[in-house]
Amino acid sequence: MPKTRIALIRGDGIGPEVIDSTEEILSNLNLNLEFTHFEAGYKHMKKTGSQIEDETIEEIGRMDACLKGPTQTAFGTKTQRGVAPTIREKLDLYANLRPIKSRKGVKCLFPDTDLFIVRENTEGLYKGLEFKSGETAFGVRVITKSGSERIARFAFNLARKEKRRKVTAVHKANVLKETCGLFLNTCRRVAEEYPEIKFQDAIVDATALKLITKPEEFDVILTTNLFGDILSDECAGLIGGLGMTPSANIGDRTALFEPVHGSAPDIAGKKIANPSATILSSVLMLEYLGEIKSAKKLETALNQVLAEGRTVTPDIGGNAKTHEFTKAVLEKLHP
Ligand code: NAI
Repeated sequence: MPKTRIALIRGDGIGPEVIDSTEEILSNLNLNLEFTHFEAGYKHMKKTGSQIEDETIEEIGRMDACLKGPTQTAFGTKTQRGVAPTIREKLDLYANLRPIKSRKGVKCLFPDTDLFIVRENTEGLYKGLEFKSGETAFGVRVITKSGSERIARFAFNLARKEKRRKVTAVHKANVLKETCGLFLNTCRRVAEEYPEIKFQDAIVDATALKLITKPEEFDVILTTNLFGDILSDECAGLIGGLGMTPSANIGDRTALFEPVHGSAPDIAGKKIANPSATILSSVLMLEYLGEIKSAKKLETALNQVLAEGRTVTPDIGGNAKTHEFTKAVLEKLHP
């Protein structure tokens, strides 16, 4: 049987710690996976002058999937674009999926939170079309009918697959009449193809408030790039923080999976990084690859470790090191 080829990017800061943990766990699932490591990120740029080379992205694009650790990004106009946005754009990974699910044992605002954020990943204000004229800076927001259509379809197909009752399109069409207007009208049209799923729309600022007062009102949130980026970090706060939140970037040919958190320079090297978000990203990867049973088994093992609370990292109230957490998950997988 041909091997399933997985690209791994360890990244910067705590990236190597959480990726090594997850690679060890995946290697113990008795799956036919073959891992290839690729270098990218800030450390790589210091050595080579580039955060990620075009050839690396092309090679990742030929793999079955990629699991990426966080990479450090420099701020400022003279700096290169980050690794994740570059890969997303070059491989056209247009759907960013973030499941927001509370887990027993992890302190969170609402214990029964269970929703998805589907964010358009290639358009909007993150297109990078910015320029300056004198003392004024401009940013161009790009929304297309085809881009809105495919992300809306992704969200409704997800709702159908996950047996969810409702999709909420989040926008600011009352102010951004052209861009959000096109997005919203396209979502409305796609919704007609899915009569069994309820469709509603909501303004982004009201949604930000409702997420921390009545998150149960949401099931699948469908939104544009910038709004999705902000709302999904807000949602990470609902379920125990950035250490707990996985993500997937999915295109028509391949997909990239990564924790939502960054390189956490404040704890890098201390060996206390929580690998949960990366392990959960690998669960999404296994589901994408059709390894549903292994995905379920891994998520259950992780949930057990979290629920027991004996071997968890400091960010979620324990005092375990990353390798001890990893060992605890492995013990649940192979008792
Ligand atoms: P961050 O997510 O790295 O850290 C925020 C806070 O959360 C810190 O206190 C950190 O210790 C904690 N934290 C994050 N992940 C954790 C984990 N797994 N376990 C325990 N604690 C964790 O955000 P920050 O500090 O704003 O960004 C640091 C760098 O990461 C920046 O260069 C930023 O651009 C980059 N970044 C990269 C991302 C990516 O590669 N996808 C995503 C977000 C940020």
